Amino acid sequence: MKKQFFTKGRQSDTSLVSQIISLLGNDLTQRDLLIENLHCVQDHFNGLSKDLIAALAEAMRLSQAQVYEVASFYAHFYIDRPVPKQKACNSITCSLFGKVDGYGVPCVGQCAQAPVFIDETKPDPVPDYIPYENYTYKPLPDPEHVLDQLEKANLRGLGGAGFPVARKWRFLLDAPDNRVLVVNADEGEPGTFKDRYCLETNPHKMLEGMLIAAHVINAKDIYIYLRDEYAQARHILETEIPKIKTDRTIHLRRGAGAYICGEETALLESLEGKRGLPRIKPPFPAQNGLFGRPTLINNVETLWRVQDILENGIEAGSKRFYSVSGRVKNPGVYEAPVDISARQLVADYAGGMLDGHQFKAYLPGGASGGILPEKLADLPLNFGSLEEYGCFVGSAALVILSDQDNMKQVVTNLMAFFDHESCGQCTPCRVGCEKISMMLDQNNIDKDLMMELSAVMQSSSICGLGQAAPNPLRGALTYFAEDFA
Ligand SMILES: Cc1cc2nc3c(=O)[nH]c(=O)nc-3n(C[C@H](O)[C@H](O)[C@H](O)COP(=O)(O)O)c2cc1C
Ligand code: SF4
Repeated sequence: MKKQFFTKGRQSDTSLVSQIISLLGNDLTQRDLLIENLHCVQDHFNGLSKDLIAALAEAMRLSQAQVYEVASFYAHFYIDRPVPKQKACNSITCSLFGKVDGYGVPCVGQCAQAPVFIDETKPDPVPDYIPYENYTYKPLPDPEHVLDQLEKANLRGLGGAGFPVARKWRFLLDAPDNRVLVVNADEGEPGTFKDRYCLETNPHKMLEGMLIAAHVINAKDIYIYLRDEYAQARHILETEIPKIKTDRTIHLRRGAGAYICGEETALLESLEGKRGLPRIKPPFPAQNGLFGRPTLINNVETLWRVQDILENGIEAGSKRFYSVSGRVKNPGVYEAPVDISARQLVADYAGGMLDGHQFKAYLPGGASGGILPEKLADLPLNFGSLEEYGCFVGSAALVILSDQDNMKQVVTNLMAFFDHESCGQCTPCRVGCEKISMMLDQNNIDKDLMMELSAVMQSSSICGLGQAAPNPLRGALTYFAEDFA
């Protein structure tokens, strides 16, 4: 093998460096493209060897450590091992329906088809959607009118945190003019698949909402961060974005299998081509965001709703999408009032419980939103109503559980997920997730110790992952102590 002398680290193979340079064909000095470049190299060579990492580092003029630390952070980069082609989703919903063979992966956002097996050698067809040719973009409205409508509609962010949308946009108006808009299409919360629904049915509705947001805050650059699992949505966006007539630059970026990159500051790090480690706030993204520029981050459905409110009036803000999965007859995405209850969703939208199953409990907001018993299934699912029960509606991912489900097993699955996905940056989350997970696995149910660990995680973790991870455990210990006996 022809080796080139390299000042630091492993020598790189000059022929690999040349192959990579001609393969990438982009500006190799652009550090933020590192994750895109890793995907490109892995897809081409069907894996990532250390020699490829060394060659990519040389091609991009980065140190090998910089490339390796990024590649090894993300679950979708397979260093010195084959890229698995047969995958089995091991999310909470899929786990209810029995074990499927395949390389286990966290929730892939197809919970209505649980249990999900993915054969990447036979990709799913691209679903029918409304293309540009059948969609009509309206003239961009007056920014003050937009903000006024969003305020009247009381629109809150639908990615999880529920922050008032117009208020967040107004922060940007006071910031310096080099503003950026980021669309969060990471959708990693187990049980959530409503953003996929938006992108795979009517992508231009979201894209129009996105252009309205960029117009209101005057952002010239727009970044869409799409989770890697959504290959069909990626195909749709790659096909449709070039057809849009706009003077703004739209960058489509591919995630790489890290739930934490849905957290807005981890997402910014990832867009900069780094590991997805959440930043300490303040400063908030509106002050110092992507590449240090003032940044607005909104969820896919939030932007869809912005378009909906401007087209159909402020009443459109009183609905949202619910991802409903688990022990119901018709799992799927349902548009329903923001104050609907879980019981109504099950009965009126999801076809009722599966035959032979009694409603026992539900997760109102995916893995992190906690767990509630059936007796609390009449609570309205709006922001603020579930907090006094230690829960939140977040991204509105309802996982419905029945008398055939054991809550200790449910919580064991969820804690294993958080343990896997914790970025490891802060001790309460890194150690707390691992310790609780281990105790559950070993059936060491020391309730006092678990509650103490949960309290430390909630009060001292840097970001929402560690703060929310103990929610389902606390709910299950409170309402279903008998399942832990
Ligand atoms: C661990 C974690 C994961 C998150 N994942 C997502 C996600 O996948 N998609 C999303 O839109 N928001 C996610 N969020 C919320 C974002 O940090 C942020 O609040 C949201 O993107 C803002 O958009 P919105 O105001 O339109 O909801 C996550 C938050 C945390 C703490
Ligand atoms: S709370 Fe967890 S995921 Fe968030 S920064 Fe700390 S270690 Fe990382």
